[in-house]
Amino acid sequence: MKSRALAFLLGCAAFCLGSGTAPEQSLREAVRGSGLLIGTAVRPAQLSEAAYAATLAREFNMVEPEDALKWEVVHPEPLRFDFSQGDQIVDFATRHGMKVRGHTLVWHRQNPKWLMEGKYTSGELAGILEKHIKTVVGHYRGRIFAWDVVNEAFDELHPGELRSTIWRDQPGIGLAANGTSYIERCFRWAHEADPQALLFYNEAEAETMNAKSDAIYAMVRDFRERGVPIDGVGFQMHISQTQLSQTQMANLHADVASLSANIKRFTALGVQVHITEMDVALPVDAEGNARPEDLELQADIYRQIASACLSHSGCTAIQTWGFTDKYSWIGSHSKQTQGAALLFDRNYRAKPAYDALRKALELGRPVAGR
Ligand code: G3I
Repeated sequence: MKSRALAFLLGCAAFCLGSGTAPEQSLREAVRGSGLLIGTAVRPAQLSEAAYAATLAREFNMVEPEDALKWEVVHPEPLRFDFSQGDQIVDFATRHGMKVRGHTLVWHRQNPKWLMEGKYTSGELAGILEKHIKTVVGHYRGRIFAWDVVNEAFDELHPGELRSTIWRDQPGIGLAANGTSYIERCFRWAHEADPQALLFYNEAEAETMNAKSDAIYAMVRDFRERGVPIDGVGFQMHISQTQLSQTQMANLHADVASLSANIKRFTALGVQVHITEMDVALPVDAEGNARPEDLELQADIYRQIASACLSHSGCTAIQTWGFTDKYSWIGSHSKQTQGAALLFDRNYRAKPAYDALRKALELGRPVAGR
């Protein structure tokens, strides 16, 4: 109770000093009672920063470790697991009444050297992967409510096809010839380790109707028909101005209609949809500042995506990939030419995107979608 009060005071101080006005209600207050989760990716090193922790606790009811549960962090040596970073996040979430999404058990990136260069046979690799999934999911059994079991298994360059990875065919866990069977195996292992956890397939650039989302749809439908334990699909939602024309930036109706149709078809399969990694990267100057007009367009994109999610009762979470422009993967991954992608600026002041998102959340689900 004490820490909650302190978090509120610190949060108010950070907000009020920055903008001169108190927030009307936080994002997590705006979704209270709606069943919608409002989350963000977090980095444990920042939890000791008062304004970061206060804003996080005040605004969100869900967190997801941005990197802390990836293989290179959690499984740094063949026989050693390190849960220290993940535990910090889960402890923070517990203290502040937040849910935790786990990210990610199977990916082709951020894997440790020992794994990538180990020259394991398929049989050995299957054993390593099963042990990894069961150990990590088992460690957080009952504390992490949902997992991105497999992340980005479909290829950008060959739409609709599975990506060639250490897990599928380099050398793979022995199921490469059977399409998505290697993914199925991962879901079954995760389910054995925590039968209560919701298990998600998470993907980039599959938010709208396209070849990649068609392939994922076919996989999920097949899994559901055969009783493979899959509960949801995560649409990452990394949006960048370079991907969009000015017209699309100004009026995202076409994309949002396609997003909505995509959410509709997936939820009709009986799975939940989570927006898992939303950010809207803008061109920035040398100081990291975006143009005011772009910030307004960005706000509208946040509003429209949130409204699209809210219009489907099976879309149950909206999560941003970080919350302050002070810490975001966009800068270092774009040579600092893009940024300003999140809801709060580098001084934890709410941006137009924050206000737009909050208003969309306050409107809630349309009556037919409730
Ligand atoms: O591990 C080193 C560490 O030893 C070193 O001290 C540090 C210094 O910069 O770098 C560390 O590695 C960085 C790692 O994050 C951990 O912080 C990498 O350079 C950096 O490239 C890596 O970036 C992460 C990226 O995934 C890797 O692909 C981002 O933080 C993270 O936001 C991003 O997240 C992904 C999702 O998991 C999946 N979907 C796409 C999304 C954005 O790329």
